[in-house]
Amino acid sequence: MDEVETYMQQPEADRSLDPSKIEEKISTLRTEMDRFTESETDQIVQMVDELADEFSDRSSKGKGSVRPGDHELPPLPYDYDALEPYIDAEIMYLHHDVHHRGYVEGLNKAEVKMEKARKDNKYDLITHWEREAAFHGAGHYLHTIFWNIMDPRGGGTPKGDLLSMIERDFGSYQRFRAHFTAAAEKLSTPGWVILVWSPRAHRLEILTAELHHYLTQWDVIPLLVLDIWEHAYYLQYKTEKAEYVKNWWEVVNWPAVQRRLDVARQVKWSPA
Ligand SMILES: [Fe+2]
Repeated sequence: MDEVETYMQQPEADRSLDPSKIEEKISTLRTEMDRFTESETDQIVQMVDELADEFSDRSSKGKGSVRPGDHELPPLPYDYDALEPYIDAEIMYLHHDVHHRGYVEGLNKAEVKMEKARKDNKYDLITHWEREAAFHGAGHYLHTIFWNIMDPRGGGTPKGDLLSMIERDFGSYQRFRAHFTAAAEKLSTPGWVILVWSPRAHRLEILTAELHHYLTQWDVIPLLVLDIWEHAYYLQYKTEKAEYVKNWWEVVNWPAVQRRLDVARQVKWSPA
């Protein structure tokens, strides 16, 4: 811990750890947390957050964002056989190294194509690439969460604030688990069951994502939205959807979008 503390006290420009070393430090701190007092644990959590931010920034080549086409397959946070006997090594290998890699590659391709469309001002295939970005982006982001919300030492029940919130919003942990399980068992398409935090309702909810791209990418925060259901324009514009879209730009409240961006930018997951 002393070594990490000394590291964190250096001015950021003088820090010389490469991203893989930062990741190693995060992992060491996480495994050592049991041995410390509550205030030391708080200190470690803060340092882990800072290191995670730093890792996120450096892994995106110092630009503070992942450039279009630059997503990378994040490593599994444990060995392929670590979740046995519950999930065997072959599944983990195929799921991570083949399927998740496919989503990352598909997302990169879609983003590069969309960037090229913007440069060339040529949008003939934009619907196709938007669908590809949704399908592969949802796949990449959801799998990244999925690997990290499992752990060989996992199981048991949630504790602390998470448990309190589950009890507040679902009645009890057992009721939450029964609802989540039923949603999974009854989902009639491939997809996901997702416990979400609603920044609007200020509470937890259980949602399902059929085929995961119908609701576009998950793990993103909407900033500017345009309703193109017919009820939004048909009485006035009839079949002239393009006219509605063109005129809509005249009423966009940019300061409101800026306010949403200010809050949304505070949420930064790692790895980026
Ligand atoms: Fe999957």
